[in-house]
Amino acid sequence: MKAEDFLPFQMNSLEAALKEDIQYHGRDYFKDFYMIPNSLSPVSVKDIDLSCSFHGKKLQYPIFVGSLTGGETGLTKINETLGSFAKKYNIAQGIGDQIHCLGKTVKDPIIKSYSIMREKNPDGVILANLSAKFLVQSENYIEDVKKVVDIIKANGIEIYLSPLRDVLWDKNDFGLVGFIPKLKKLIETIDIPVFIKSISSGLCNNDIRQLWDIGVSGFNIGGVGGTSFARMDTLNRLTLSQKQSISPVKRPLDFFGTPTVWSLLDIALRSENNEIPLIVGGGIRNGLQAVKAFAMGADLISFAYPILIELTEDFGYPKEKNLERWFERLIFQIKTVMALFGAKTIEDLRSLVKSRTVIFGRTKEWIDGRKLAFPPKFIRKTH
Ligand SMILES: Cc1cc2nc3c(=O)[nH]c(=O)nc-3n(C[C@H](O)[C@H](O)[C@H](O)COP(=O)(O)O)c2cc1C
Repeated sequence: MKAEDFLPFQMNSLEAALKEDIQYHGRDYFKDFYMIPNSLSPVSVKDIDLSCSFHGKKLQYPIFVGSLTGGETGLTKINETLGSFAKKYNIAQGIGDQIHCLGKTVKDPIIKSYSIMREKNPDGVILANLSAKFLVQSENYIEDVKKVVDIIKANGIEIYLSPLRDVLWDKNDFGLVGFIPKLKKLIETIDIPVFIKSISSGLCNNDIRQLWDIGVSGFNIGGVGGTSFARMDTLNRLTLSQKQSISPVKRPLDFFGTPTVWSLLDIALRSENNEIPLIVGGGIRNGLQAVKAFAMGADLISFAYPILIELTEDFGYPKEKNLERWFERLIFQIKTVMALFGAKTIEDLRSLVKSRTVIFGRTKEWIDGRKLAFPPKFIRKTH
């Protein structure tokens, strides 16, 4: 079985991400979630502690480096840099789809484009990555998963769902038939946690309850708001005139799905989901949005496109330095906003949601439509 049967080369995804407009420019639903600052806050930036743990591993910051790449020798440098970056700040990270590892010998340079991340981050949390579509289509999926996990000595694996991209790529001839039984068998067989990740379309409570009940260890619930996988994998296959004729009216599905904030509220505002670890990404671009997501119940916040941009744009600094400057600014923003709310920890932030938060507009309608309680009746625990 060949990687090209499943997804376009990672290089193409990367090129499309850098050349095409693959970002959502619609309403930012984080703006509907208003936290009232504390004008008498006794907290200063230096008091704030963001350290956390994730599946038993201590992390310095609750930030997750979203899966980006691997599978081309030209991309080895990116994963090398990402490994060193995650090690430097002791943050968790994902890796690009590892389908390209299959059928290769250990010495193949393609394998190195992934394993370099572990070399550079020997003790960190790294999650392996394969698609749900792969699980459905592979006959030897258990062996294949074990192989990709072993290549990066992964602490867990993310199986990602990208339903819209799958449908567009396969010209409407694809569905996740038989996925749940295969996933259940995988969970029962391998000895590391299995996470389900959604790319660009979001997960709702109904989805995650079904998956949690079969033993999934946590979720990465990326929804609409940031990078569109559908646009990423289709725009670079179009001619210029096709692209020029693109309008939201002609491509109504480009941003089809549930916004990230709505997914988070749908899951985190229900007490039965209190035990479920949540990584949240998809359109989070600054410290204020990150703080709001923590307050709503995110355990780790994932960033992908912003990291890619810092790595590939040259602002006159070496590229590693761009990334570090971006990260340090992000952490400073998060801490500044937390200080202004009077929260020393993420637990403090969550307790403020009860007394200092108002929800507006369509997000309020989502809360009402989904019969969620706001302010929440409980404070979500951190994981
Ligand atoms: C160039 C590029 C390649 C990606 N490749 C993968 C991948 O191989 N596996 C995966 O699970 N997610 C992949 N993603 C999705 C990201 O990890 C993330 O979930 C998504 O981009 C939403 O986050 P963002 O809005 O911060 O970019 C990729 C994203 C980009 C921009």
